[in-house]
Amino acid sequence: MDFADSKRRGNVPGRFLAAAILITVCIFVYKQSLNSSNERNLFSYHEAGVTHVLVTGGAGYIGSHAALRLLKDSYRVTIVDNLSRGNIGAVRILQQLFPEPGRLQFVKADLGDAKAVNKIFSENAFDAVMHFAAVAYVGESTLEPLRYYHNITSNTLLVLEAMAAHNVKTLIYSSTCATYGEPKTMPITEETKQVPINPYGKAKKMAEDIILDFSKNSNMAVMILRYFNVIGSDPEGRLGEAPRPELREQGRISGACFDAARGIISGLKVRGIDYATPDGTCVRDYIDVTDLVDAHVKALANAQPSKVGIYNVGTGKGSSVKEFVEACKKATGADIKVEYLGRRPGDYAKVYSDPSKIREELNWTAQHTNLQQSLQTAWRWQKKHFNGYGSLNIMA
Ligand SMILES: NC(=O)c1ccc[n+]([C@@H]2O[C@H](COP(=O)([O-])OP(=O)(O)OC[C@H]3O[C@@H](n4cnc5c(N)ncnc54)[C@H](O)[C@@H]3O)[C@@H](O)[C@H]2O)c1
Repeated sequence: MDFADSKRRGNVPGRFLAAAILITVCIFVYKQSLNSSNERNLFSYHEAGVTHVLVTGGAGYIGSHAALRLLKDSYRVTIVDNLSRGNIGAVRILQQLFPEPGRLQFVKADLGDAKAVNKIFSENAFDAVMHFAAVAYVGESTLEPLRYYHNITSNTLLVLEAMAAHNVKTLIYSSTCATYGEPKTMPITEETKQVPINPYGKAKKMAEDIILDFSKNSNMAVMILRYFNVIGSDPEGRLGEAPRPELREQGRISGACFDAARGIISGLKVRGIDYATPDGTCVRDYIDVTDLVDAHVKALANAQPSKVGIYNVGTGKGSSVKEFVEACKKATGADIKVEYLGRRPGDYAKVYSDPSKIREELNWTAQHTNLQQSLQTAWRWQKKHFNGYGSLNIMA
């Protein structure tokens, strides 16, 4: 046996080992790539029996609650949000609750960026869009009107164009009672003339008009939901309303009540006590977010090609700001100090809905109509989340 021969034979086990390692690595890489492409593909093709819903603004208050309900009902959900106002923490909770592949994906993007919007639509196969994303503060809209027209009206146009280009068949649009302005007759029906009196309401009305004009010559199924004042949170305590601290001044009454109850602010500022209402404070129709998302699911289930449904989503009952504050005091157990100030620009005295159309056509009625109970549910979440979504909000 010469030296060279023994060296060659001695290498055989080593070569086997190297080949085995190489094959194992190849199989591992192949499986990994299969897994990730499967996961990506689940969002990128239409699957029989699965409805894939794009939830814009799904990191926000209402959008996150809607995403939770859709996921619970076995929808496939893609959330798109630029996180300008929402909470990545809410998305993380949803991801923890629904970790299975093909259930939920999050895409951080700005809906004002046409290129980004088109990319999202070309990479995903959506069956429907629930378009929640918007800046949504009446007071802020009077100070920054152009921002509102861009964010609400132009962005809705971009979303609609992308839907048309990619043949997405159903749109559920988040509109508002602010599109009605201050009608003389109450309650407000869907036939009530829309005369918005602030840029927020005008921007939403323009977005509605664009959708209505488009739908005249399209087979898209469209549902426009005009919400009244949204309160409450998930009864199981998984999600809540957590606006950015810098928005507190702009904020809605429930947030201000809770902040006052927690001592973050010294008390409540009620703006306007000389309105033509029974106790002089504004009257609003407060709709619980759980009922509101139920209306969305019913709207989605009942949406029909080439048809537009327009619905008020409210309880049909008005409560004054004073009544609201009393309910909040009882719900939180806190003695909230109230300061009465002059009117806020852009506000209107009395707004409440006639919800009979949505009851008759979609079989939807508000179930959570006790103000104090809705506030109690929201307060339970607030108490456990003094920091909003806290550390969950820190981006990786
Ligand atoms: N909260 C109410 O009482 C109420 C009443 C009537 C109608 N609405 C409508 O409901 C929708 C949701 O309101 P909300 O109270 O949940 O507000 P929100 O601020 O909690 O949520 C809005 C979400 O949209 C996102 N967003 C805003 N601009 C965006 C953009 N350009 N691109 C991507 N994401 C963007 C924000 O980051 C946020 O997560 C809005 O369209 C609002 O006009 C709300």
